[in-house]
Amino acid sequence: MRMTDLIAKKRDGQVLSTEEIQFMIRDYTAGIIPDYQMSAMCMAILLRGMDDREVLDLTMAMAHSGDMLDLSPIHGIKVDKHSTGGVGDKTSLVLCPMVAACGLKVAKMSGRGLGHTGGTIDKLESFSGFSTALTEEQFFENVNRHGIAIMGQTANLVPADKKLYTLRDVTGTVPSIPLIVSSIMSKKLSSGADVIVLDVKCGDGSFMKTEADAEELARNLTRIGRLAGKKCAAIITDMDQPLGYAVGNALEVKEAIAVLKGEEEGDLLQLCLALGSCMLTEAGFAATTEEAEQLLREAVRSGKALDKLAEMVAAQGGDSAAVYQPELLPQAPVVCEALSERAGTVSRIHAEAVGLVSMKLGGGRATKEDVIDPRVGVILHKKLGDAVREGESLASIHAADEASARDAVQMLRECYELSDKAVSRPPLVRKIIRG
Ligand code: URA
Repeated sequence: MRMTDLIAKKRDGQVLSTEEIQFMIRDYTAGIIPDYQMSAMCMAILLRGMDDREVLDLTMAMAHSGDMLDLSPIHGIKVDKHSTGGVGDKTSLVLCPMVAACGLKVAKMSGRGLGHTGGTIDKLESFSGFSTALTEEQFFENVNRHGIAIMGQTANLVPADKKLYTLRDVTGTVPSIPLIVSSIMSKKLSSGADVIVLDVKCGDGSFMKTEADAEELARNLTRIGRLAGKKCAAIITDMDQPLGYAVGNALEVKEAIAVLKGEEEGDLLQLCLALGSCMLTEAGFAATTEEAEQLLREAVRSGKALDKLAEMVAAQGGDSAAVYQPELLPQAPVVCEALSERAGTVSRIHAEAVGLVSMKLGGGRATKEDVIDPRVGVILHKKLGDAVREGESLASIHAADEASARDAVQMLRECYELSDKAVSRPPLVRKIIRG
């Protein structure tokens, strides 16, 4: 088999066979097929597309390019979630303890963040001593004992995707549905869960800018998930503004704790209820969305969800006292307010720009080597549709020093657009796509 022939085949709109796709992924991962040939193939796939059988084969070949986590030592139904990424997205910190408190098994592999703010692991490391460097045995034992564990991605998880994603990033081939679906689903399939729920964002802060594009991606993701034998659902959610109020690592953990304590009822809780309901119904733990929501709300009301977070933090070496006393979490030495220079109604919040403010304060990484400062970030006080008076605070800036706080105030003000007219809030959950 020759890669040149496969490129020409796809260029001419033909369908690649299972063997051809397996050959291509195996030899590319092994370094036998060079980047320039794979770039041409990615562009051919972007322009010509792939049918479901091809996408499934590509996904499976990529998943098998590295370690496949076998979760069979864990008893019960294992669930996982994936988000296409967003600013202030601390969903896993709330959702995972909530569904674990309802009896589902959360065996989650998470990553660190690059850009904006940290990933779930960076956020959890705000708890002093918390470690995600678990062996497989510890991971299984923790999930069996506590119903929940979050571990760092193993180095050899889908190596084909690591190479391919880097290549796509510099060859204009990121926005191809078959390539996005195989990239996301290969990682989910190699992580071994029975139920996968996907949070597909659309809007300013996400890479699917329109609802139609997000829906197309969501339908393809769930179809491939089901063809691979998984229970799979997707939710299309709004990312026209940051999720919740906090952006920054320890600040996001504090907000997650507030939601788990039942102290905050906003969009973050709403999203976790929607995602959690999908998990519970897909897993057969609830017959309807309403029943699932009741179970999740009860997990919060009873304190069980908060206790699950504390159990997980303790089991992974962290200071679980901070779950009940969040003031023990790292605090920034400088806190100042970004005051509005005019009155109006918030008509736009540039979510990505808010993420950048947090990153500049030290809450995110520009390069893999950067060290995250868990203390810093932004707490928004105003969201879309909120009225603002002149001189009122738009957001609090949590900074390591006065100079970075001053810069952040200016940047943060520029993230907001105010209007003289009334502005309606967009619905957070745009659509739910089930099997
Ligand atoms: N997220 C991924 O993991 N892969 C993509 O291709 C796009 C988003």
